[in-house]
Order: sequence, then C-alpha cells, then structure tokens
Amino acid sequence: MLLGKQVELTQQLIMRLQQCGVDFVYIEDALTEDLVVPEMISDETRIKALSEIRNGFRELMSPSRRNKGLHTPYIAKQFRSVMSMVLEEISDHKGAMLMLMNMGLVDHYLFQHSLNVCIYTTLLGMSDGLSQEELITLGMGALLHDIGKTQISTDVLMKPGRLTAEEYNEMKKHTELGFRLLKDEPNLPLIVAHCAFQHHERLDGSGYPRGIKGSEIHDYAKWIGLVDSYDAMTTNRVYRSPMLPHQAIEGLYAGTGTLYEQRMVRLFRDKIVIYPVGVTVRLNTGAAGVVAGYDPLCPHRPVVRVLYDEEGRELSQPFEIDMMKQLSVMITRVNEQNVATPATVEKTMG
Ligand SMILES: [Fe+2]
Repeated sequence: MLLGKQVELTQQLIMRLQQCGVDFVYIEDALTEDLVVPEMISDETRIKALSEIRNGFRELMSPSRRNKGLHTPYIAKQFRSVMSMVLEEISDHKGAMLMLMNMGLVDHYLFQHSLNVCIYTTLLGMSDGLSQEELITLGMGALLHDIGKTQISTDVLMKPGRLTAEEYNEMKKHTELGFRLLKDEPNLPLIVAHCAFQHHERLDGSGYPRGIKGSEIHDYAKWIGLVDSYDAMTTNRVYRSPMLPHQAIEGLYAGTGTLYEQRMVRLFRDKIVIYPVGVTVRLNTGAAGVVAGYDPLCPHRPVVRVLYDEEGRELSQPFEIDMMKQLSVMITRVNEQNVATPATVEKTMG
C-alpha cells in the first residue's frame, strides 16, 4: 500500500506517487460508485515491473559494461521475469475485452512507455494465438525495443521542440544501437534484438533504418511498431497536441496496407477498448463526465455518464448519453486532469 485511507493528497504526495510510476488515481465518488474500473495489470505488478525494467536498462547501458564488451548473465533472466509477471496477470483477463488506459497524454518516461507497449503488444499477440514462449519473446522485444534511446544524446532525446533533420537522423539511430546492444546478449533470443532493429520499418519500405518491406519485417516488430505508433499519436508533444484515441485508430487505418498489416490494425481495433469504463471525457456539447459502459461491438462510442454541465457545474442529477444512439455527440477530450475545472484543463492541455 502506498497511502492510507483518508490521507489528503498533497502536492508532495502526488510527486512521490509519480516517482513511483503512478500516473493517475481514481477517486471514489457517490455519483460513480457503481462503475467498476477494469485494470489490465495491478499497480503492484506495474511498480515491480518498472523497477526491474529500470535496473535492467541501467545494467545494459552502464559504460563499464559497454566498453569492456561484458555481458551480464542475469539480464535476460530479469526481463524474462518481468514478462512472466505481466503474462500471468494478462492471462487472467483472457476473453475479456482488453483495455487501453495508461497510454498517457503527456510525454512519459522510457520505462513507462516500454512497459505500456509491452502490455498491449503482448495482449495483441495473445489474441493472435501466440504460444506462451512466443509471447515471452515478443514481450521482451517490446520491453527493449527502444533501449537504443539510452545511447542517444539527451539534448536530442529530451528536446522540447520539433527535431531538425539532422537531429532526427541522430534519433533514428536508436534502432541500430538497440540491435547492437542486444544481439550478443546471452539467453536473449536474437528476435528480441531484431524488434529493436525493425520496429520503425513499415510495410511499404518507407520506414527506417534499412527500409525493408512486407515479409522482410518480422511480425513481432510489426506488432510493436503498430502499438508504438498509436502511443506516439496519442502522446502530448510540446509542438502538437495529442490525437484522441478514436482519431489515432483512424490514423492507423489510414496506414493500412501501406504502413501496417490490415489484419493487425483490425485486431487492435477489435481487442483494445480505447474508452474504457472510468475514463473521463468531455463532449462536443461542452458537458463532461465518465465512461459508464460500452457495446463490445462498438467500443468507440461508449455510454457517457454526464457529471458536469457545459459551464463546469456539477450536476445533482447525472444522466447518461449513449453515443451509439446520439450520433451527433462526439468526444473532444479525454483524461483531463480535472473535469471539474475547465480553467486548469486549458492550462495543462492548451
Ligand atoms: Fe523507437
């Protein structure tokens, strides 16, 4: 347990939670207490996994190890154990619709990103019928796909604006650098290194670093590339606002057959619920509320429980809008920091 009951969330505690990898919390409220919020993996597993990933990354990138070409025998073991942990939890959800919730709207750290991509890639691989052993390999590939970024200069990596062509070329090198870091690692399947190498390659050859196409790209790298693209589209950047989840899905669709395999995009759309129960949304009517349910056949148009009117006033009598029936209603914002105070929202999302 991180915090006891009735403890007030001070700014300091919020910072501490964030350092532990907790990006958001749910708040109990009489108006929404009947809603059951699904969790893909428990907070405990997430925190444990994140600390293992952090240690593993540190180990892999430590200069002494790199210079001497040393290998660390337990690195593969470490990542394998993270994967078993993740897999065990995901397996409990088998058959249920899969939830996409933690892909944040703010730039997140490499570890968070790696774990998120890992969870969703593994879920998709599971839906695609991969075996347990294959899933572990795919998941490790996803955990380590961006490891090469640890070798890119922080000026480029953390640049708060758009990259210049030169910087972009520098950034692109993370694929090959990752491959080199991983390829000789004992006990790590070579495919894991290829996931780092190939996850920015695209079907039509427009990707990098080699511009390979179609069946030349390993399926695992294609899965990782797809989830990574979705994540990139929905992530806030200083120079552009994030796309809404349904817009990002449309973005993936636009790339069907040229950038991504159609069958993979379809599985993504069918298996991942982009507006899960409990997510806060703002509607084009100006009202705001939380997702209260959805039809599995059309999870992109959920039922929204409206809690605040267009002026930001809390309603004493919340009501529900079924977006499947009210087709003119659209979602315009998600995961706002505080649906109750539009002023704060403008500041953080603006
Ligand atoms: Fe990448």
